[in-house]
Amino acid sequence: MKKSKTFYVTTPIFYPSGNLHIGHLYSASIAWFLKNYKSRKGYQVLFLTGSDEHGQKIYEQAKKNNQEPQEYVDLQAKKFINFWKLYGIDFDVFSRTTNLKHKKVVKKIFSYFLERKLVYLDKYKGWYSISDEEFVSPSQILKDEKGVFLHPVSKNPLTLVEEESYFFDMKKFEKWIFEFLEKEKVVSSNKTRNELVNNFLKDGLENLSVTRNSVKWGIKIKENSCHLIYVWLDALFNYVTNIGFDFENSQIKYLNFWEKGDEIVHVVGKEITRFHCIYWPIFLKALGIRRPTKILSHGWIVTPEGKMSKSKGNVIDPLKLLEHFENEEIKCFLLTEFSLKNDNSFSLEKMKEFYNVNLANNFGNLFSRTISLVNQSFVNKSVFFDEKLLTDKENQLIEKIKNRVKLIDNYFDNFQIDKGFQELFFIGHDLNCYVDESKPWNLKSDLKQLKKILNLLLNFIYVMGFYLEIVMPNKMIQLKKILGIKENFQQAKFFDFSKFDNLIIGKNEILFVRKKN
Ligand code: MSP
Repeated sequence: MKKSKTFYVTTPIFYPSGNLHIGHLYSASIAWFLKNYKSRKGYQVLFLTGSDEHGQKIYEQAKKNNQEPQEYVDLQAKKFINFWKLYGIDFDVFSRTTNLKHKKVVKKIFSYFLERKLVYLDKYKGWYSISDEEFVSPSQILKDEKGVFLHPVSKNPLTLVEEESYFFDMKKFEKWIFEFLEKEKVVSSNKTRNELVNNFLKDGLENLSVTRNSVKWGIKIKENSCHLIYVWLDALFNYVTNIGFDFENSQIKYLNFWEKGDEIVHVVGKEITRFHCIYWPIFLKALGIRRPTKILSHGWIVTPEGKMSKSKGNVIDPLKLLEHFENEEIKCFLLTEFSLKNDNSFSLEKMKEFYNVNLANNFGNLFSRTISLVNQSFVNKSVFFDEKLLTDKENQLIEKIKNRVKLIDNYFDNFQIDKGFQELFFIGHDLNCYVDESKPWNLKSDLKQLKKILNLLLNFIYVMGFYLEIVMPNKMIQLKKILGIKENFQQAKFFDFSKFDNLIIGKNEILFVRKKN
């Protein structure tokens, strides 16, 4: 039997120093969508998310709460897992950087680099952002009106760090990484790739400080007990250690999904793209293991007041949002309305408008009017779908929908998720127009015609159901029950119009109740 292809997708592992917000949910929804989509395409899939539990920021947060860091991250990790459950983000691996196995392997990786002289001891003096866990080079530092040095993107304050540190010899890989980014097309957009080249490679890649001796919470290196491993070196390796990488003793999951796997996709926000596109492939190359196939970079979710931040008081609490909408509706909104390429502004009004326009009016109304007409006209009457009755207009409609289906697949395959869903709702629009024009409620005495129209509609609701199920698996259980479908939706059956001939359609139910303004 032919082995199915594999697809491994990851979210960034989130810092447990605060609660998860809608921006994190956006990252996770993209990865979760890709997992579901690829599994419907027959791939064997693996989905990892988790928490990034070391570093000064976490240490300070734990102290503030009068907790030991481990106690603090244990509680936060539980909260994260619970959050993903509430949002129906069903991951396969919850990856934590405080896992014993991870810590052991990261230590080994550091020793491997040291033995091969890829890492060397030196002195570091520079400006560091604890909140971003990142050093900022002098040319990128911003100053506020009081002269305080700030991180160029997050605007968090910087502190001067002067200490002994081990450095990773990035320069050795300068040429290689340049070619890697050019040739392998791993970065999701050319614009992002060019920005990385211009900002970090064109004037030479700087060596990276990979240990700290002033930080109190992290993985100690074996060779020098004063040094802890820099959070990014620690964190990036989670993608392989927590699926079983361990040099010669790697586990089957790692071998199947990474070493011999087909597609490996990291979903990341734009500010951490540099770590994933430059340092991560270099670390892997240095270790002699394969690189990911795609790094999918996305913009931020902002509010009309700008990027969400605690100080601005504009953080949208996703748990509150669940009081108004179902988790699937929220994920569908984020994936349909927000393009990966841009920053996107979130508001409750926008969410409500999306819901009413696309879910309640477009798809919901189409479903409801179709099912109620079937309920009214076809109880215990069997009239079969007759292809000969199709008019030119109806044949054109079928062609149009076939083209839309091709486009949707193409968009999804190329990670243009928003465009794919928008195309899907165009199908709903086409069908509602078809209903308005053909006025089936006037055809109650011409059952053959009526059956043809309703049958076409049911068949296209099936098509929409297939794609909606990727993001709304629970809602589609309700829909399938009413349609009398017991098996999985199958793409191969999209245009087999006989599939509803013998089905008993259930009673109409409103899938999406319109929200009042
Ligand atoms: N721990 C690191 C990632 C290590 S991965 C090996 C980290 N954590 S984070 O919690 O700060 O951010 C995680 C992800 O959430 C990033 O991809 C980031 O871009 C994303 N987002 C955080 N705020 C966001 C928005 N407002 N909007 C969209 N995504 C944002 O970085």
